[in-house]
Parts: sequence; structure tokens; C-alpha cells
Amino acid sequence: MSQYTAQQVHLKSRPAGLPTHDNFALVTVELPQPAAGEVLVKNLYMSVDPYMRGRMREDAVYAQAYALNEVMYGGAIGEVVESNDPSLSQGDIVLNQKAWQDRFVAPANTLVKLEPFDRAQLSLYLGTLGMPGLTAYVGLFKFGEPKPGETIFVSAASGAVGANVCQIAKQMGCRVIGSCGSDEKAQWLKNHCGVDEVINYKTCSDLNTALVAAAPEGIDVYFENVGGEHLQAAINSMNPFGRIAACGMISGYNAATPEPGPNNLMLIVGKKIRITGFIVSDHVDMREAFLSEMIPWIQTGKITSHETVVEGIDHAVDAFLGLFSGNNFGKMVVKL
Ligand SMILES: NC(=O)c1ccc[n+]([C@@H]2O[C@H](COP(=O)([O-])OP(=O)(O)OC[C@H]3O[C@@H](n4cnc5c(N)ncnc54)[C@H](OP(=O)(O)O)[C@@H]3O)[C@@H](O)[C@H]2O)c1
Repeated sequence: MSQYTAQQVHLKSRPAGLPTHDNFALVTVELPQPAAGEVLVKNLYMSVDPYMRGRMREDAVYAQAYALNEVMYGGAIGEVVESNDPSLSQGDIVLNQKAWQDRFVAPANTLVKLEPFDRAQLSLYLGTLGMPGLTAYVGLFKFGEPKPGETIFVSAASGAVGANVCQIAKQMGCRVIGSCGSDEKAQWLKNHCGVDEVINYKTCSDLNTALVAAAPEGIDVYFENVGGEHLQAAINSMNPFGRIAACGMISGYNAATPEPGPNNLMLIVGKKIRITGFIVSDHVDMREAFLSEMIPWIQTGKITSHETVVEGIDHAVDAFLGLFSGNNFGKMVVKL
């Protein structure tokens, strides 16, 4: 046995509705000594993401469900502490899928060695330079396909994906309308991301009316992160041949029984709207192109990021639950 232990968050039971702390357990386990080809890694940051809620279901849709009484997984950034493989050395920074634990032993060939452009901003590789940033890039370019001068509506606009969508679309010369759940987020979107109009969906009297007022000439692209009322309002405001990049529908993730859909779907026919769902993991071939554009955008200040950093693995569940009440401002990460 090695001298190391790890703290892990296990899924204890499958949530019905909004998860509670009772669905999870913080467990201490002993780690084996890394065998030949393996490394011991200390995670520095782990990501919490809305998709993890889907994996807590027995019938997870596009990925395997988390097993009960086992550690969950997801994106994390760690530092190699001990290496028994020539491809990695002590101190190397690795992107891994071993979130929800502070240390782990794994085969070196399952980890991605990073050459961080700035070691002080490692958590960016879980946000703007990571899966959410790539999601924004893929969803916008491949499925939203906005043209300069067009109007795009982005829901959950201040979030990890949404804020990148807004800023990339602004760079392309689009008019950008965002929606979010607080005035502080709205101010940031306007003042730091260049978003033209922001709707606080929690305080506006009617989302549909607010969207018509923000985009009197209609919208050409809707980047869908929320579902429900947001989707209904977007369809109402969509111009002919509009495109919907269906990225997620977080408003329904904790519904014990599925919510009824928008009541205006017939407009999709008359307006000839194209709706395309996508999953970022099908588009990893775009990662190189994405990084080659995104890193310079960050370095030249064209893309800015906001993060909410929660400290300690014992608060990782709080961080995850916070995603469903908008406690995160930008990318939610846990510092381990
Ligand atoms: N298709 C893919 O491959 C892919 C990949 C990554 C993410 N996604 C999806 O993209 C969406 C955004 O993910 P993210 O990582 O960027 O998360 P995020 O936006 O950083 O965090 C979630 C945000 O959603 C908003 N929200 C939560 N419940 C809501 C509700 N009932 N109604 C309206 N807004 C609500 C909250 O912000 P407010 O303050 O604005 O309420 C919250 O901060 C999610 O739907 C996620 O599942 C899809």
C-alpha cells in the first residue's frame, strides 16, 4: 500500500428531483502504489457541470449512468505527484476525467498532458479553454451558423458555455441578446462581454415580451441552454430560416416527471426553423482549431471569463447543486 489516501465523493442514491446532500457520501480510500505505466495525481481543480445530473439517473441518455456507491467522474486538472511511466514526470499538469476525488492513480495514457499557457490560470482548462468553451465554439459555428449582422439569443448567457457564445458571436459582428438570472450577471455581460441587450428572466414580467422588445426585428439564431419558457419565447421571436443550436435544457434537469413542451412548435414548420441537438464529445476533432483561436482571444482580451471558485472537496456537492439555482457566476469550479 502507498502512503496516500484519497477523498472521493460517491453517489449513494439516485436523486428524485433536485439532489440533496443525502444522495452523496464523502469517502476516504487508500490508494495503491502506481504500477508500471501508472501515475499518482493530485487534483488541483475539478469541474461541476449540469450534465452530471443526467448521469445520476438510471436511464442516463447519452452517457453511462454513474454507478451507486462508487466515485463519480468528470473533468479535472491535476499535478503528477509520482510517475511510473516515462511519458509523465513529477510536476506535469494533466487534464483528466477523475473529478470528485482529490487524488488518484491511473494509467498515464488515460491523461492529457497540458502545456498551460499560464500556470496561474489552470482552471481555465475546465471552462473557457475546456469542455464548455469547446461546446460554445462547436455549437455556434457548426450548428448556429450566425452570419455578421444577424441577431442571436443566448440563454444562461453568463454561464460557462453561454458567456463564450456571446463573446464569439460579438466578434463575428452579430447583435447579441442574452438572458440570465441576476442584475450583476447582466451588468457583466453588457460591460465586459459586449452583449447588446440582457434580459433578467427572473425579474422581467414576461420573457416573451422582453425578448420581442430586445429584438424587435426577430432573432436568427437561438443558442439553447435552458429550455421551457426560453425555448417557447425564442421560437416566437425567430425569423424565417432561423437556427436553434440545442445545447442543453437545464430548467428541466431536476423535473421528477418531464415538463410539457412549448405550445408553439407548429411555428417551426411555417418559419422553416432548423433545430439541431449536439453533444460536444462528438466533436473533439475541433479541439485543436478551437484552442488555436481561443488562446489568442484570451491573450488579447477579446474573450474574458468569470469563475466561481468553491474551496474543498467537502464543498463539491454544494458547488454542483448551486448550478441549478444560479449560484455560479461564470464557470463553477472546485479548488481541491
Ligand atoms: N451539448 C453539450 O455537449 C453540452 C456541453 C456542456 C454544457 N451543456 C449544456 O449547456 C448548458 C449550460 O451549461 P454550463 O456548463 O454553461 O452551465 P452554467 O451556465 O455555467 O450554469 C448553469 C446556469 O444555468 C442557469 N439556470 C439554472 N437553472 C435554470 C432554470 N431553471 N432556468 C433558467 N436558467 C437556469 C443558471 O444561471 P442564471 O443565473 O442565468 O439562472 C446557472 O448558473 C446546460 O444546459 C448544459 O447541460 C451541453
